[in-house]
Amino acid sequence: MSASAAGAPGTDLRALVERARSASADAATVESLRQLESELLGKQGELARAQRSLGALAPDERRAAGLEIQEARRAVEALVAGRRAVLADAERAVRVESERLDLTEVLDAPTRGHVHIVQRTRDQLEDVFVGMGFAVAEGPEVETDWYNFEALNMPIAHPARGMWDTFYLELGDPETVVLRTHTSPVQIRLMQQQPPPVYAVMPGRCYRRDTPDARHIPIFHQIEGLVVDRGISFADLAGTIETFTTAYFGPDIHARLRPAYFPFTEPSAEYEITCTICKGAGCRTCSQTGWVELGGAGMVDPAVFAAVGLDPEEWTGFAFGFGIDRCAQMRHEIPDMRVLLENDVRVLRQL
Ligand code: PHE
Repeated sequence: MSASAAGAPGTDLRALVERARSASADAATVESLRQLESELLGKQGELARAQRSLGALAPDERRAAGLEIQEARRAVEALVAGRRAVLADAERAVRVESERLDLTEVLDAPTRGHVHIVQRTRDQLEDVFVGMGFAVAEGPEVETDWYNFEALNMPIAHPARGMWDTFYLELGDPETVVLRTHTSPVQIRLMQQQPPPVYAVMPGRCYRRDTPDARHIPIFHQIEGLVVDRGISFADLAGTIETFTTAYFGPDIHARLRPAYFPFTEPSAEYEITCTICKGAGCRTCSQTGWVELGGAGMVDPAVFAAVGLDPEEWTGFAFGFGIDRCAQMRHEIPDMRVLLENDVRVLRQL
């Protein structure tokens, strides 16, 4: 039987603390540490036993021995608490790791997404026009007959409406609400919203009851342009289109304006560029003509100014509307436009 100097009988406190140091360091889990703790510090533990044996000592010895036991208890408590903090941290880290939800889908680099070619084309077209001093505006895809047709100088039963035969919605009176057939109604909305001068482009999605073919899809995109100011001439229109064409397609692509008819412009023109797929030789995409129509243009008709309450004697302007999908098709030499709707990843990956 050994005893420390002051002597709690039957217990070597220094050895006990040393044992506690190595045993707690060896405890691998919070649970095994708890067991060790009750062995050392519990009511049936060695320290408690030493405490109880104090009664056998003489009063003056008892005090010194009691202090020693208390000191040993504090030392053991500190060892256990330190080890518990380390173990608890480690166990929490393991639990957090196992419960972590990984919501990301890791794909190989070539299949990671990118902006769709039509959206990218729209962004690039906006950039070109913003660089030329135009603002960008938008309007709704669901339009009333008035904005889509009437304010654009196409009264009910006007034969030109046949060019834009379309999808009507069952909303309000029959045939009064349509999926817009072009972005031209945004011209009207813009002129109602702000006084001239106006220099704006208006991109967006349009709908037509077209049978899909190499150059047509029933859901497509246009970018409208509108300039309203004093003293605007057809030369301003032609110059703007020329500047746009070389800025977007490069110096090798030629543009031409040919006489055309639109109810909301007078005079009107069709805007065509060299077919980029056959370089003008004629192919299936351009119906063997060597040219592809990108859109329409013309000087704002006085009737349109009248519809929005602008004086046609004071204000002049031009407008144009280009197909964004057509621009993408020509710039990226896509023979058949229908691929833009199919979302085949083998195609999307290349564009
Ligand atoms: N809105 C016409 C179309 O969709 C294009 C156009 C716009 C023509 C502006 C002239 C002026 O065919």
